[in-house]
Amino acid sequence: MSIHYKPGKEPHPREHRLIFKNIDRADWDNGIDCYLRDGGYAMLQKAIGMEKAAITGEVKASGLRGRGGAGFPTGVKWGFISPTNTKPVYLICNADESEPGTFKDRYILHQDPHQLIEGMAIAALAVGAKVAYIYIREEFPHAATICEKAIEEARQRGFLGKNILGKEGFDLEIFVHRGAGAYICGEETGLIESLEGKRPYPRIKPPYFPAALGLYMCPTIVNNVESLCHVVHILRMGGAEYAKLGKPNNTGTRILCVSGDVQKPGYYEIQVGHLTMGEVINDLCGGLKPGRTLKAIIPGGSSSKILKAGETYKIKRGAEVVEMGLEELPMDFDTMAAAGTMAGSGGVIIMDDSRDIAWVLNNLNTFYAHESCGQCTPCREGSLWMKKISDRIVAGHASPEDVTTLESVAYQIDGKTICAFGEACSWPTEAIISKFRDELTSHTRPELADTPKNPVTERAMASL
Ligand SMILES: Cc1cc2nc3c(=O)[nH]c(=O)nc-3n(C[C@H](O)[C@H](O)[C@H](O)COP(=O)(O)O)c2cc1C
Ligand code: SF4
Repeated sequence: MSIHYKPGKEPHPREHRLIFKNIDRADWDNGIDCYLRDGGYAMLQKAIGMEKAAITGEVKASGLRGRGGAGFPTGVKWGFISPTNTKPVYLICNADESEPGTFKDRYILHQDPHQLIEGMAIAALAVGAKVAYIYIREEFPHAATICEKAIEEARQRGFLGKNILGKEGFDLEIFVHRGAGAYICGEETGLIESLEGKRPYPRIKPPYFPAALGLYMCPTIVNNVESLCHVVHILRMGGAEYAKLGKPNNTGTRILCVSGDVQKPGYYEIQVGHLTMGEVINDLCGGLKPGRTLKAIIPGGSSSKILKAGETYKIKRGAEVVEMGLEELPMDFDTMAAAGTMAGSGGVIIMDDSRDIAWVLNNLNTFYAHESCGQCTPCREGSLWMKKISDRIVAGHASPEDVTTLESVAYQIDGKTICAFGEACSWPTEAIISKFRDELTSHTRPELADTPKNPVTERAMASL
């Protein structure tokens, strides 16, 4: 069947659309009749005829790695639910989409909610969950309403409820839960606390790995919206066939959300690792703005470490190690890790030479200082100090030693907190200072080095 997209919204020829196949289609709406006309829920029907372990086996064989940020293998996560478990099992779809630079899940929620519901129903069958939640951020009220309508439609057609599609004992209810709009609610244990009606204070791991001690202290699988949608395609193609997309250990497709200084920012679904950073910029996104040169890229959402134009990286290619420039790097999990950053949530932020790196750093620090949940001291105090110091740098009121102090504050957060927010807020600062120290220092004034310090401030800094 040929698919027609809205004018100007056609996928780029270098895209490979699975998850976003229906996004921006001219002949598409988010109702269940449209989804069914296109073969929707056939994979749920297929899953019903399979053993639970066989469904998880297909997901393991596919090599799918979570698209929420950490890139953890989805099938392995599902396999953590013990076959001898007697407690209720919960499935949670993480629709918080809070990582700055990331804007993919919202399109699925708005335009293709049944793809998500089908993926969730298959996942619930595989892990034995009878109750599932879509945890959605407060800023997506329209998406929440669309999901509620879609859930009701699915239940009316027998895809949710009791004895689904006639399978004795396969019951599933999905509930939409609206968050109150906090970044930390995207962190899976903070999300679980919030779902339980409490402040979203992340839990310490171990012991609170959700698959062991999750919602209401029961085994819980938390997966990102996009990850759950991939499950539908894995069942359709078979895990082994799906694994042929992308690269070994970096399989399938993923949606890149490209923003910043390119001619055509937007979302692009590519085979993982099949395009280099340069191809993403120049082919998919039409290149940089006229007359500009590349300065830096944040490749996987704001928490990922910045990559600087002109740097080279040692990347393994087969048995050999190759030196590559920034634009030569393939966009996949392992390459990004080898380059000292991460593929994260797929939010690619491109910066050209018009960008002031001090402003960029301050913008990031301001976000993280606002979003720290405040539970642990290094993060609560440190994120605020990082913001205050970079405020000073941007305003031209800092001394050169402030840059060193800022760096030291970041290293005193990293690795010393309850949840990965500690790294999320300190890594960008560490990387920006290590790569752009001279530019940051050029904003400072050496004559301020001897300025008498506020003793209260000094004591607070020393205690960090
Ligand atoms: C501070 C912080 C914010 C996060 N925000 C999100 C988010 O908005 N959406 C998401 O899917 N995962 C987010 N994550 C990752 C989740 O904790 C979790 O790893 C993910 O939902 C698991 O799904 P996946 O395995 O399908 O990727 C965040 C993690 C951290 C530390
Ligand atoms: S690291 Fe930050 S966000 Fe995470 S628990 Fe500690 S204070 Fe909260």
